[in-house]
Amino acid sequence: MERKIKEFKAGEKPRDLASVLLADEKCGYGKLSMAAIYEDGRLIIGAGSETATGALTGALFYLHTYPRVLAKLRTILDATFTNGDEDYVYSFTHQIPYIDDIITELFRIQSPVADGLPRLTPKEGLVIDDIFIPGDVVVHVPIWVIQRQEMYYKKTEEFIPERWSDQPELVKDKRAYMPFGLGL
Ligand code: HEM
Repeated sequence: MERKIKEFKAGEKPRDLASVLLADEKCGYGKLSMAAIYEDGRLIIGAGSETATGALTGALFYLHTYPRVLAKLRTILDATFTNGDEDYVYSFTHQIPYIDDIITELFRIQSPVADGLPRLTPKEGLVIDDIFIPGDVVVHVPIWVIQRQEMYYKKTEEFIPERWSDQPELVKDKRAYMPFGLGL
């Protein structure tokens, strides 16, 4: 962030994530303490790298473990990019719904944020399913566990991208999908 601050020129079009943060009118450079700006930098590195690494290694693992899925994807890609790599255009990948199904299923079976996101209960406490939780208590919903529950998904331990398209009966309750969190 120190290097980015040296390069930063107010009014200039932001070039990357750090300069977007520094240019923010309400909480950019000059409006926040340096401690807060450093914390933004730490947060972005953790939030962006751990998640993306987990997603990419997970994708390779599941494509390798499920040759049926890999073969189906390869057939679709070969039909889309008939001249192989020479034809490859990133924007075309957005027109291949099976890629979305694979990523959606990946985020279900191996959520990059596996643990729950910490939240503080209100001062007066709250009741969830008849259980009273006192105020000022840190609670969380474990994403990994919820997204692998048989009560929400059929064949929950299996990597089946089609559950998000042709086989919707394999999803019993879509509300149990929260790789990017839910609510506030
Ligand atoms: C596989 C990709 C990703 C997943 C699954 C993911 C997941 C999440 C989740 C669950 C949250 C909510 C945290 C909370 O509510 O406590 C979050 C927040 C956030 N993510 Fe991501 N994320 C991904 C990629 C990225 C990338 C690439 C960046 C930045 C380069 C990023 C930056 C952030 C930031 C800045 C927040 C807000 C943190 C806050 O409110 O304090 N994420 N992400």
